[in-house]
Amino acid sequence: MEKEGSPLHVGGRALDILIFLAGRPGEVVDKRELVKRIWADVNVDEGSLRFHVAALRKALGDTGKSARYVVNVPGRGYCFVASLAQAAPPVAPVPLDIVPPRSLPVQLAKMVGREEVIEKISNGLSLYRFMTVVGPGGIGKTAVAVTVGHRRSQDFGGRVFFVDFGPLRDASHIATTIASALGLTISAEDPTPALLTFLKAGPALLIFDSCEHVLDNLAPLVERIVREAPQLRVLATSRESFRSEGERIFRLFPLDCPPEREDLGVDEVLTYPAAQLFIERIAQSSGPFQLSAEEAPLVASICRRLDGIALAIELAAGRVNAYGIAGTASLLDSRFSLQWRGRRTAVPRHQTLAAALDWSYDLLPAAESATLRRLSVFAGPFAPEAAATVAAGDGVSASETLEAIDSLVTKSLISPSGSRTLRYRLLDTTRTYAHGKLNELGETRQFARRHAEHFRDFFERAEADTSTPLPEWLHVYGAELDNVRSALDWAFGPDGDPALGIALTAAAVTLWVRLSLFAECRERCRTALAALGDSGGDGRVRMQLLSALGWSLMYGEGRAREARPILETTLEIADRLDDKDFRLRALWGLCIDQFNNGQFGKARALADRFANAAANSPDKSDVLLGDRLMAVALHYLGDQNDAAVHR
Ligand SMILES: Nc1ncnc2c1ncn2[C@@H]1O[C@H](COP(=O)(O)OP(=O)(O)OP(=O)(O)O)[C@@H](O)[C@H]1O
Ligand SMILES: [Mg+2]
Repeated sequence: MEKEGSPLHVGGRALDILIFLAGRPGEVVDKRELVKRIWADVNVDEGSLRFHVAALRKALGDTGKSARYVVNVPGRGYCFVASLAQAAPPVAPVPLDIVPPRSLPVQLAKMVGREEVIEKISNGLSLYRFMTVVGPGGIGKTAVAVTVGHRRSQDFGGRVFFVDFGPLRDASHIATTIASALGLTISAEDPTPALLTFLKAGPALLIFDSCEHVLDNLAPLVERIVREAPQLRVLATSRESFRSEGERIFRLFPLDCPPEREDLGVDEVLTYPAAQLFIERIAQSSGPFQLSAEEAPLVASICRRLDGIALAIELAAGRVNAYGIAGTASLLDSRFSLQWRGRRTAVPRHQTLAAALDWSYDLLPAAESATLRRLSVFAGPFAPEAAATVAAGDGVSASETLEAIDSLVTKSLISPSGSRTLRYRLLDTTRTYAHGKLNELGETRQFARRHAEHFRDFFERAEADTSTPLPEWLHVYGAELDNVRSALDWAFGPDGDPALGIALTAAAVTLWVRLSLFAECRERCRTALAALGDSGGDGRVRMQLLSALGWSLMYGEGRAREARPILETTLEIADRLDDKDFRLRALWGLCIDQFNNGQFGKARALADRFANAAANSPDKSDVLLGDRLMAVALHYLGDQNDAAVHR
């Protein structure tokens, strides 16, 4: 820095203060805020601030009379008052690791019978801030909410976000699940403030899908964001309401079914949405379909028997290809009357769906029922290759698994999902049902293990994949977060396999870090380290886990002090194993730790060790990082000339 052609000597902190204040010219910056910004992780009092401001003024020649740069506004803070001219265009902001928002699922090609309710909910969004579509499983809540989202998208400037809570098992991840659906990477311990900042910035519609199992934890958060972000609207779907203040409930009724009458004609039957859906789905799975006059009353009776529940109707339509309308009707008849003889009217809707699932499942050929059961170990959507790896075996080959999936799609037991790459998913109701079957047959352990092994291998490849650009990497690997979570929950659960859990944790560290999920990374590493105990082979996995734990503590709010001993142990193991990469990671972390503690001499010594260790690294960015650490250390030590050499 120069003044009128002569160099100025300003200490690192004083320079930071100047840069910060000059960045907000004319604004009075509160002293506490300034202390927080300049001494990010160390506790200092206002005395230190006064000292460095005085030093800065002295260096600038700010006499408090004619030449004014920084003024003290008593009781409020400091303000930069000199006039500023921009010497060079502003530096482009560093691109953040933005995860592309998970977009709204595609709209159904044809929605039947919901126009009125969609209109009502759409209009309701102008009046009510928080609405819940409530109804039993498979009735069509998600379909309605997604359609509303598309319809109102423009009014929200495209800021319509879909958050699927279906695959979430651990309610403590609610806020991070929302953040990642918004495309935000938030490293803070509590992501809520950052979420609020985003949501307060303008109108937005959040669709919270499948909330029934997280109601208790989600309710207070929804209430808070709705209260604090005035332009936000929340549309939730759930089998039960939140019972929250300010919540507006829309109960979704079954699709209207044709009445029971012998002389029902084709045209009349087809005016009822339940029958329209049935015919639509037949055409979808087996090509153009013409309903005959004899079949019309049969379709009416199928729809009524299935209580107008969309998913149940789809399941039945998936059978018509094999059994015809009459065959399907009589199969349903025998099945349903067998189960419910004499108490038909007393059967609640969710039992109708359970019976429809039973019926549908029992008719599957062995390879298909096995595939469906096994696929229930996936949390959320899955890729075809993953399905083939996890669900094949015991007499079903990988290609038979893929064939079974195709056939299960035509039977509406599996839905295609995802627009850019083909993925599949089980609707929640179907997944729960299929998982129940997997449990009944005692196969859960075997296939949960396969699932965990698959994702261990998958993330070991992800870690080694350094050529894929970050947004693409996050698109491919970030989509598997729910699967990693459920695999780890199984592995460290009562029936699991801790060794597999440890390996998966180590492999998935890159995922958490790239998604900025530091709190989760920290807790998962702690669990894995506890399971590792004193064993652990040559210490390599321990070193990986400790390094990840140390770094995630550094990033975690208020936890940075716990990082040092952990990174020191990482360094010891890296030295013992002569692992250059982890030696650098540990030294880097330890150096940052000393910056945070204001120990610039120690930081400089560590930067020196880093630079030595990086000297022969084939990766030039290591050498550059070494220089940067050294430059920062020297800057804080007040040696701006040497710092400039390393810059
Ligand atoms: N009005 C409709 N028109 C056409 N298809 C529909 C309609 N409603 C629902 N469906 C289809 O029926 C199936 C079940 O619907 P959806 O997933 O929306 O139910 P849900 O109430 O959200 O179920 P869950 O409680 O299990 O989440 C889906 O395959 C969906 O595409
Ligand atoms: Mg749903």
